[in-house]
Amino acid sequence: MEGKVKVLYLSKTGYSRRLAEFLAKGLDSSVEELKIKKFEKEYEYVVFTGVYRGKLNGKKKLKKLFKKGLSLNIVTVGATSKGKNYEHKLLSQNAYLNQAKYFWYIQGGFDLLKCKFRDRLLIRGMLAGLKRKQNSLTSEERDLVKMCVTPFDGIKEGSVQAIKNHFKGNQV
Ligand SMILES: Cc1cc2nc3c(=O)[nH]c(=O)nc-3n(C[C@H](O)[C@H](O)[C@H](O)COP(=O)(O)O)c2cc1C
Repeated sequence: MEGKVKVLYLSKTGYSRRLAEFLAKGLDSSVEELKIKKFEKEYEYVVFTGVYRGKLNGKKKLKKLFKKGLSLNIVTVGATSKGKNYEHKLLSQNAYLNQAKYFWYIQGGFDLLKCKFRDRLLIRGMLAGLKRKQNSLTSEERDLVKMCVTPFDGIKEGSVQAIKNHFKGNQV
């Protein structure tokens, strides 16, 4: 399958783009933003995109591509470290993702300063709401607050290894 995979991404603050570039390098494939209009049947497409408030960045575009009957592999990138459990949650909250050929979740990172104005406002609003709860915060909410006030980069050398193995293993 080497040479037959095309890696695409949508990325607001660079984490999905970096992970897409890692995979493309590992697979010797091309990588570009999900702006292309022409999809070729002989290629296997892998799309990396960020999670925003439980939804995928570019969900309208993805739904359109699924409607066209394209078979896509989707890699979602978020701030949470919850891994496998989060994969199930995302699938149950975004039913259209069940059409993906394969689906993964990978931790990216978070940096409020890199976020666009609207996203910064959303985060600030959420933090203000949590602050009002003060002592009654759940541990999940406490983690969320910590994550929002401290920038972090959760991308590791091996972040895309399982995905790379998946495609290398499928080589024909
Ligand atoms: C407004 C907002 C909402 C977010 N919601 C989630 C979320 O629901 N789950 C999650 O894991 N990460 C969430 N994040 C974090 C992003 O998914 C994370 O920073 C990701 O690495 C961004 O990838 P990108 O820069 O490629 O778009 C959110 C970030 C912002 C700014």
